[in-house]
Amino acid sequence: MSEKKQQVSRRQFLNYTLTGVGGFMAAGMLAPMVRFAIDPVLQTHARGEYKAVAEVDEITTEPQRFDWTIDQVDAWYESEVTKSAWVYKDEKDDIIALSPVCKHLGCVVSWEGSGDYPNEFFCPCHNGRYYKDGVNVPNTPPSAPLDVYEHRIEDGTLYLGNAKPRGEA
Ligand code: FES
Repeated sequence: MSEKKQQVSRRQFLNYTLTGVGGFMAAGMLAPMVRFAIDPVLQTHARGEYKAVAEVDEITTEPQRFDWTIDQVDAWYESEVTKSAWVYKDEKDDIIALSPVCKHLGCVVSWEGSGDYPNEFFCPCHNGRYYKDGVNVPNTPPSAPLDVYEHRIEDGTLYLGNAKPRGEA
């Protein structure tokens, strides 16, 4: 049995060495660039962040609209967004915070927004109607109840989180 000795020519050795070193250097330069390019996607943003919206003392049985702002980060773009809620205390003294966004096509509903429908939320876009608890009035355009904000109370202050479909909040 004869063993053939594998010879590496000087040219092959230089090729292998330069390719290896070049590849290593290219990877070293590209890695930070790729990391920078996809950084916003890798960032974890606190979801379900709560914001102070109102003092509990100022909340009555009559729905009132409260507005607040949040910082919204959309990949590389940061902006300040205003959010709103209709807030009241129900007959059990529980706080209810409803999203004002109509479930039909997304217009903004108002409490007693129509003189024809007292004690209801009204959407002017297509005459959408909701009862005080946010449930859609049958045979009006909205097909689902208003979303409900997650909420918590700390030291007499109402904090609101995300608005979720009824049953998920
Ligand atoms: S968007 Fe509210 S009824 Fe159509």
